[in-house]
Amino acid sequence: MHPLFLKLLELNTVMKLHEKIFDLALKRSFFYPSNEPYGSVSGFYDYGPVGAPMKHRIAELWKRMFLKEEGYLEVESSIITPEIVLKASGHVDNFGDPIFECKKCGTKVRADSFISDKVDGFEWDGKLESLDKTAKEEGLKCPKCKEDFSKAYMFNLMFATGMGGERAPAYSRPETAQGIFTSFPRLFRNHGTTLPMAVGQVGKSFRNEISPRKGLVRMREFTQMELEYFFDPDKPEFPRFKEVADYKMRFMVKGEIKVMTAEETLKKKICPNEIFAYFLVKEWEFYKMVGIDELKMYFRVLGDEETPHYSKRNIDMEVQTSFGIVETIGNAYRTDFDLTQHAKTSGQKFEVAVDGKKFIPHVFEVSMGIDRLYFCMLEHTFREASADKDWEWFEFPPGVAPFDVAVYPLMKKDGLDEKARNVAVMLRKDVDVLYRESGSIGRRYARADEIGVPYAVTVDHDTLQDDTVTIRYRNDGKQERVKINELVEKIKKNIDNEKVSL
Ligand code: GAP
Repeated sequence: MHPLFLKLLELNTVMKLHEKIFDLALKRSFFYPSNEPYGSVSGFYDYGPVGAPMKHRIAELWKRMFLKEEGYLEVESSIITPEIVLKASGHVDNFGDPIFECKKCGTKVRADSFISDKVDGFEWDGKLESLDKTAKEEGLKCPKCKEDFSKAYMFNLMFATGMGGERAPAYSRPETAQGIFTSFPRLFRNHGTTLPMAVGQVGKSFRNEISPRKGLVRMREFTQMELEYFFDPDKPEFPRFKEVADYKMRFMVKGEIKVMTAEETLKKKICPNEIFAYFLVKEWEFYKMVGIDELKMYFRVLGDEETPHYSKRNIDMEVQTSFGIVETIGNAYRTDFDLTQHAKTSGQKFEVAVDGKKFIPHVFEVSMGIDRLYFCMLEHTFREASADKDWEWFEFPPGVAPFDVAVYPLMKKDGLDEKARNVAVMLRKDVDVLYRESGSIGRRYARADEIGVPYAVTVDHDTLQDDTVTIRYRNDGKQERVKINELVEKIKKNIDNEKVSL
């Protein structure tokens, strides 16, 4: 087993679900540590041939639901960002985590997480002195050499680089959002000079996490799906809010789960406006569509000390996993903070003139990470072996499974393999196909289940006579005979039927 996972095993004698998931992730090519032959650096993972298509499908589904269905704009901004941009946004001065550094060996640990792991119920109040005080009271020492720590200090999380011969200071972006804010004046001019205007993108972000851990949960390079909704603060209504007003979601309020409709979140002043509430509904629906168990997720309003410097209200999506609670989405009412900062620093005009009024638009932001979501999906859709199935499997919703269908010849002889290959070629024009011809058919069904392929098509001797095949359903193992020329339609219909819709 990979040393990373052995380390995890040391912590828990019984194999927990996340350990099992990591083990399966390695074996079945969902994801694995990057640059393995060189020992791998924590916080970097590659998605394998099974995980990569799933990740792309999640991103495509997000684009469809959050951008295309709404008629919003999609961009792809550059990753390397000049220092001045991130100075303006506050990241150069404020984007850090507290660390303890060992006085003797220099080992650095993220101070708040280090204490939380050792001291039950510890919650950081945001002050460095509190970290020093707790470490002293609890006698916390360097995990490597057991010496004292220095006083806690802030460590900037951005990856620095230098551009060109002069190596002008720059950073790999810590969020995709800034590229959207800096493009705002152009996008506003080019796309209708009207509000609301919403712009989104899917792309990599980078954070030099001090102690990356928990696999995909805390990475140094990860993918975000972010949407910035620009609006007139005097008009915070959402055009189609009524359609979702009665939609129910779970919220964590004062340590208790409460079910509330979108409308109620406004009355109780949990959401500051209809825009915020509308997108929470979309997120809830999106999460259900990708297989997150709705009884294991909820929204939580962040306290003042947790709310980022740029936000007037933050509501996170939190998901229960075997690691504990994982924050997977940040929703923020960023007001006019970013646009004002960029206007001041660049000297350019970010103000708009709409309906005879001049102002800097306000921004509501949806910020979702794919990697954490993907890990939660793996945990929530994992199924143990049972009396019906002798093997562990994944119940991925068809739309985000790595392949739509597996195609198998019953045997690799009598022309069944050639016929099955032709069926696979035909299907590949419309759906994603996994093709295998060796091993017993039962073993191959098991292999498809193990990576969550929802349907398997088998070509047998009858196929050669009547051009029909058997389609087997992953969830209940039921089988059905279908004509080859009706197969694409059948598979597409099944995928559609299994979707949860708004
Ligand atoms: N633009 C706002 C922003 O970036 P954030 O709460 O820092 O907000 C949003 O990040 C989401 O990005 C998180 O909810 C999480 O899903 C993902 N994310 C953040 N840091 C991450 C990390 N180190 N590893 C994996 N995903 C991360």
